[in-house]
Amino acid sequence: MAATEISTEGAEFIVVANRLPVDVERAPDGTLTWKEAPGGLVTALKPILSARNGAWVGWPGAPDVGGEPIEGEDMLLVPVELSAQEVEEHYEGFSNGSLWPLYHDVIVKPEYHREWWNTYVEVNRRFAEETAKVAAKGATVWVQDYQLQLVPKMLRMLRPDVKIGFFLHIPFPPVELFMQMPWRREIIEGILGADLVGFHLPGGAQNFLYLAKRLAGYPTSKGSIGVRSKFGVVTVGFRSVRVGAFPISIDSADLAATSKLPETRKRTRGLRKELGNPEKIMLGVDRLDYTKGIDVRLRAIGELYQEGRLDPERHVFVQLATPSRERVESYKAMRNDIERQVGRINGDFGRVGHPVIHYIHKPVPRTELVAFFGAADVMLVTPLRDGMNLVAKEYLACRTDSTGALVLSEFTGAAAELRQAYQCNPHDLEGVKNAIDEAVHQDPEDGKRRIRSMRRQVLQYDVDRWARSFLQTLSGRVDETPK
Ligand code: ADP
Ligand code: G6P
Repeated sequence: MAATEISTEGAEFIVVANRLPVDVERAPDGTLTWKEAPGGLVTALKPILSARNGAWVGWPGAPDVGGEPIEGEDMLLVPVELSAQEVEEHYEGFSNGSLWPLYHDVIVKPEYHREWWNTYVEVNRRFAEETAKVAAKGATVWVQDYQLQLVPKMLRMLRPDVKIGFFLHIPFPPVELFMQMPWRREIIEGILGADLVGFHLPGGAQNFLYLAKRLAGYPTSKGSIGVRSKFGVVTVGFRSVRVGAFPISIDSADLAATSKLPETRKRTRGLRKELGNPEKIMLGVDRLDYTKGIDVRLRAIGELYQEGRLDPERHVFVQLATPSRERVESYKAMRNDIERQVGRINGDFGRVGHPVIHYIHKPVPRTELVAFFGAADVMLVTPLRDGMNLVAKEYLACRTDSTGALVLSEFTGAAAELRQAYQCNPHDLEGVKNAIDEAVHQDPEDGKRRIRSMRRQVLQYDVDRWARSFLQTLSGRVDETPK
């Protein structure tokens, strides 16, 4: 790669992510429409993006869509065009057929194909080149997630003047698992192109530090890594790369405000009524992904009905499942399995006009989702592995009257912060059943104490605080960011 000419203009702050914060839809006549898709990350970074001449580099979410950068309201949107084959090999293949299962404890078997890897390298290079073109001299660039782990190193080669941060939104796996990866050293070296590398949990950061030494041979600091403090250091030639834990969060105040709106409350009442005004509503909200343990909670609920610990007349379960990565084989198999389970439980315990499980396989609009959180007496979050799990935090933010209960897998990043949840091991079915049973039949006063304490955590440590702590550490303005 040849060094890129450094522009004096251009963006001073750039987010690089696999997806742009917009979705593109192609009509049958070929015309394209852009739909804004704001997520927590965009919301948190919007003020920084608009104040600092910001840009967002990303894939528009459909093959063969590219073109010139588009001037958005708060930022420049820089589309990175991927062909259908690149989507298949970079996104569906290496990102979601190799890295995603490997980093999530090999719940399904990762596949390693040389063509997938070659395309991953190619696509990472394109992202780095597009970023290099739009970055102003000395800009700050924040690269996001597992789809782009080679971008930090590639970008540094093109633009040694920019400051580079990298954040991994999914778990960083145990060393023994990571060692499976045929291109393990390349990945570690790729990430080490950054000045600051962030993970959700100290454990992930520690794993990375160990591998930087073992696989790449760089000297590393010895002490243990803290949360937003006590950063690790890898010495790469003359550079120091800092490594830290920055647990991500949500825009809690905004969600709490939405849940208090009269129209939201009305919709919550409407939902309860549509569900037959049951005594207790249990809710699951997930992308349809095998990491989320949707099958685990269905099995647990089925057995609880069977044993009479849940009553089909009084207790219903709603599962909202957004379609996800539908062309990847393991996702197709999991969908079939879950839908079979839903059918079986309804067949056994439902009656005409009164299913016990309501299963919705489509994304729900944000305000509707908040109304669902308001209607849920018990929230079921049972992943087999999850980097953080924002749904758990969203539920808590919406429980403005401190009622409700959260069943939470120990294998989520959120479990480290939400100690008052009914925590369970998703591999222990009896344990999951007991946690659900306890949550459904909790003492209301005890429930309030738990929710209040967890809400305090979620309201205090919101997504803005997450972004600020990472970016302040990257800028070097503070040595140890405030807790
Ligand atoms: P992941 O990033 O792995 O999908 P998270 O729980 O961290 O898991 O984040 C998922 C995000 O997607 C949350 O903001 C959640 O509200 C949203 N989401 C998940 N399922 C649905 C759904 N069925 N409808 C609408 N939004 C959803
Ligand atoms: C997780 C990943 C993100 C990803 C999102 C949705 O949160 O960490 O990088 O964008 O899932 O998945 P998708 O494959 O639809 O982008």
